[in-house]
Amino acid sequence: MTGEKIVSKGLEGVVAASTRLSHVDGEAGELVIAGFPVGELAANATFEETTWLLWHGELPTPGELKGFRAELAEHRELPAATLPLLRECARAKVDSMDALRIGLGTVSLVSSEAIAIVGLAPTIVAAYARLAAGEDPIEPRADLGHAANYLYMLTGEVPNPERVRGLETYLNTVVDHGFNASTFTCRVIISTGSDLVSAVVGAVGALKGPLHGGAPGPALQTVFEIGDASRAEEVLRGKLEKGERLMGFGHRVYKVRDPRADVLARAAEQLYQRSGDMKLYSLARSVEQTAIRLLAEYKPDRRLQTNVEFYTALLLHGLGFDVPLFTPTFAIARISGWIAHAFEQRAENRLIRPKSEYIGPRDRRWGSRL
Ligand code: COA
Repeated sequence: MTGEKIVSKGLEGVVAASTRLSHVDGEAGELVIAGFPVGELAANATFEETTWLLWHGELPTPGELKGFRAELAEHRELPAATLPLLRECARAKVDSMDALRIGLGTVSLVSSEAIAIVGLAPTIVAAYARLAAGEDPIEPRADLGHAANYLYMLTGEVPNPERVRGLETYLNTVVDHGFNASTFTCRVIISTGSDLVSAVVGAVGALKGPLHGGAPGPALQTVFEIGDASRAEEVLRGKLEKGERLMGFGHRVYKVRDPRADVLARAAEQLYQRSGDMKLYSLARSVEQTAIRLLAEYKPDRRLQTNVEFYTALLLHGLGFDVPLFTPTFAIARISGWIAHAFEQRAENRLIRPKSEYIGPRDRRWGSRL
């Protein structure tokens, strides 16, 4: 606090807008997406239905859904300049989120519309994943849904319904989440009167950081590093003793278990039960319990619980995704939420422009430097 001004570092607790899109109750551990509890929407809707719901406020009629699916499928072909750029990215071994940012920038060559951004994002991510692995990209298929086509472009195989359901559940679970850093970034850019592609590209930059969307890779690596439940305490204690953060735990808003962790844990369990790798699932469960116990011991005042990223890692690994695909897949989902926020911001726009508190010197004079 300085004089009359209250400085809210990290804007913690500041309400910056009203929204109809999602409600996060950090004390109750609840997430409502456009009126639905997250678990109910995530486990039942297709990603096209969720996107329509956020963009229009209601679920689509069967006719609207058919038209939307078809329109989205028409926007899957990359602009001519994108593939050569992604090849350059693969040659330079750039991070997969940087490749997504570079690829999404090329959407402006063909369109500035929401449908093109959502339609093209999975093609960019899948093409880069294959190029980075030294493989040729696979052309999108217009007869598959959004999630199924993404899985198809990664492997060349039409996925079975269980894998599609697992991915749809993931995409729906993380599609929107109040005023998180990337959504805020998107709304700030839109509030200046800028365009959708710029806002989404900016949001991708915000999502990349390990404190936001970049945590699931390290979370999975920790589970692998532990390897056996008997080593969980030793490894996790070692990290906490060194002052490291346990990835996949803690949240700015949730002070209880992140409700998305439950939805994704259920989806992961179903997937692992079918694929037969229940050993990894059980190991993750046991790592989670040990981590929560140790976090309560080391940070007793902080109420640190499992967040969305821990089970994101497990679910996406179960779908056969490599770690570099984790955060771009999060982006593929969140793009629909970002765009819904952009529409909302435009509808009642006011330039987002907070103030800062100056704490630098005031007594310097030009001549005194000599
Ligand atoms: N492991 C160990 N300690 C943690 C922790 C974690 N995962 N998360 C928070 N803490 C500790 C901090 O070290 C800090 O301790 P201190 O007060 O003794 O210094 C305290 O808890 C508060 O941390 P702070 O960074 O102020 O909280 P925040 O609201 O900014 O943190 C996160 C939110 C998500 C950035 C933080 O919990 C984190 O870094 N988690 C790990 C990364 C992650 O999983 N990110 C995905 C989020 S969905």
